[in-house]
Amino acid sequence: MLVNSRKMLEKAKKEKKVVYQFNINNLEWTRSILEECDRLKVPVILGASEGAIKYMGGYDVVASLCYSLITDLEIKTDVCLHLDHGSSVESCIRAIDAGFNSVMLDMSKKPLKENIELTKEVVKYAKNNNVSVEAEIGSMGSISGKGLEIGTNTNLKDCLTFVEETGIDSVAAAVGTVHGIYRGELNIDYKLIEQLYENLNVPLVLHGGSGLDSETLRKCREAGVTKININSDLQEAWSKGVRSYLEENKDVIDPRKIIGSGVAALKEMIDIKININKDGK
Ligand code: 13P
Repeated sequence: MLVNSRKMLEKAKKEKKVVYQFNINNLEWTRSILEECDRLKVPVILGASEGAIKYMGGYDVVASLCYSLITDLEIKTDVCLHLDHGSSVESCIRAIDAGFNSVMLDMSKKPLKENIELTKEVVKYAKNNNVSVEAEIGSMGSISGKGLEIGTNTNLKDCLTFVEETGIDSVAAAVGTVHGIYRGELNIDYKLIEQLYENLNVPLVLHGGSGLDSETLRKCREAGVTKININSDLQEAWSKGVRSYLEENKDVIDPRKIIGSGVAALKEMIDIKININKDGK
């Protein structure tokens, strides 16, 4: 069933479990994520970035795709369709109008006051449509072809103000992770995660979950992270699967076989991530 993220995250926060946002890129990814999470009986958040939405054709295409797959595949688990890193109030409104159940507004590069004001606009529109809102504070680092860009972590005081004044449902707080696959040691501030878990009345979202091993992800969960976003790890797993299939099958031309050859690796990666909700190693 398609739902907003409020209840699934509140329940997970209480139980100190993680709900994943897996980012989608096309039909096959969306289908694989839905099938695997349904098989494992875990709720899931499908994250659609503006880039992925543009690639797939638009907000309505993405919403119809998700709604139709859930019906035709008879998906029973709770699913939330979420706009990832909305870059404007208009983009969030567009997603809500198309049927997204949750939106993220990312005004983290703006001064706190402006971030609060813009986020409040989205919250007002979203609440009237039963849609949940995530927003970001602090600045996330990233790893790309240009190298590692370290972000700036948030702090408890700003985060409390941000959550109270905006009325958001979950907060993406910069705590030391980076977007993309970074294999070195990251300086994740577990103390800050614990403080945020104990003092905020909303769930904490960890962006940049890729490149972190299961032990690190489990430590984040134990410290108090409730939602973890994964994009690049799925991309890497899927591409490796496709590359090796193409090397072994030089004459293949069927796009269904080519695209589908990454699906097993994608599902395996989803299993690895979900496994951190189990206690122990
Ligand atoms: P990764 O690409 O590091 O998994 O980050 C995904 C993310 O945070 C999407 O919002």
